[in-house]
Amino acid sequence: MELLLGQVLGFDGDHTAPRIDEGVAIDAGRVKAVGSADRLRRDFPQARVTDHGRALISAGFVDAHVHYAQTAIIASWGKRLIDWLNTYTFPEEMRFADPAYAADVASRYFDLTLANGTTTVCSYATIHPESVDAFFAEAQARGLRAFAGKTCMDRNAPDGLRDTVRSAYDDSKRLLEKWHGGRLGYVITPRFSPTSTPEQLEALGALWREYPDCLMQTHLSEQTDEIAWVKELFPQSRDYLDTYEAQGLLREGAVFGHAIHLTEREKARLAEAGASLVHCPTSNTFIGSGLFDMGLAQTLRVGLATDTGGGSSFSMLRTMAAAYEIGQLRGNPIHPSQLWWLATQGSARALRAEHQIGNIAAGMEADLVVVDLASTPAIEQATRRADDIWQAVFPTIMMGDDRAIRAVYVAGVSSDCRSAA
Ligand code: GUN
Ligand code: ZN
Repeated sequence: MELLLGQVLGFDGDHTAPRIDEGVAIDAGRVKAVGSADRLRRDFPQARVTDHGRALISAGFVDAHVHYAQTAIIASWGKRLIDWLNTYTFPEEMRFADPAYAADVASRYFDLTLANGTTTVCSYATIHPESVDAFFAEAQARGLRAFAGKTCMDRNAPDGLRDTVRSAYDDSKRLLEKWHGGRLGYVITPRFSPTSTPEQLEALGALWREYPDCLMQTHLSEQTDEIAWVKELFPQSRDYLDTYEAQGLLREGAVFGHAIHLTEREKARLAEAGASLVHCPTSNTFIGSGLFDMGLAQTLRVGLATDTGGGSSFSMLRTMAAAYEIGQLRGNPIHPSQLWWLATQGSARALRAEHQIGNIAAGMEADLVVVDLASTPAIEQATRRADDIWQAVFPTIMMGDDRAIRAVYVAGVSSDCRSAA
């Protein structure tokens, strides 16, 4: 039994109902109780107490769309999506045929995400089953709740980086049966319509019907050139979403990354189907994709993500800042409460894991981050005059990075988050 004291942030419902408590009691990997320091000390006299002072104690960040295999090519210069994939991404992903390389990157990747306070990610692997094994083995060794799947592509990718209709189905099924369960979630993962034949999408739709409690993730309407290409490749489809919908890949549990340039029909169908969208703001500016419409959060589950390495940061603080900036460019200044909610509970909801992670409340899994709200001189002086919690948090959202992450708890166990900093 452990008792952490600080400014404990939870949400009673959505981002309009934040709650600050003085302490959180943890037992057997879960949150046992939240409340005032006095009451918790009285109720749990045996608990080991760690006092984090004025630091914010939050649910660990949930990064709802990443490519762990792109860790080494983050910040690659000068290309838009299709050229970026061909120039930087595909050659790097080719290297994951080597299990030792995959294991090395997986370990480095989780060092970086934990150093940034992220306790759950939902990742694309590469086409290689070994890359999925490396990801899940590393996540399991660290006790993390984590999601990933083998990226499937059977066309428009270089030799050595294509699977087939059959192998995509067979390998995905084998990996799913091997890894799905406990804190690990297998995600059926066609990369995007340009790199899958309709037959491959259909086979993955069939696999999803066999394992309906899995998630399915893919990319949707990220860049206008990409959308024009989809139109050429799928002349019969009504729009980009229809290329997935027609193959049984649109329902609850479908998680679409980017979703920037949507038609009215696509928006309506996504909402009707109960699908999730993931906003990847640093990626959308870095690769030059466009400005996501946060208004979609009124009708859809929307999560937030770094999209590393198309995104330019491993930090969900930096990602919240980019989401704020994009909101401003669209005339919508997103409240810090909503930014924080998106990076925790919003992403957890997008992954349909909101009953396990993404919030601090009794019964939730104790994946927590302790955030120093005065981690640099620039941030410290900006918070000095704050007279409410959100004024105190906002400078860290806008200017914070891994220096603000004071501690991380994974299933109630403190993890050395500074090892990669
Ligand atoms: N669309 C298809 N593959 C990718 C990828 O790896 N990154 C991004 N940002 N978009 C994609
Ligand atoms: Zn992506």
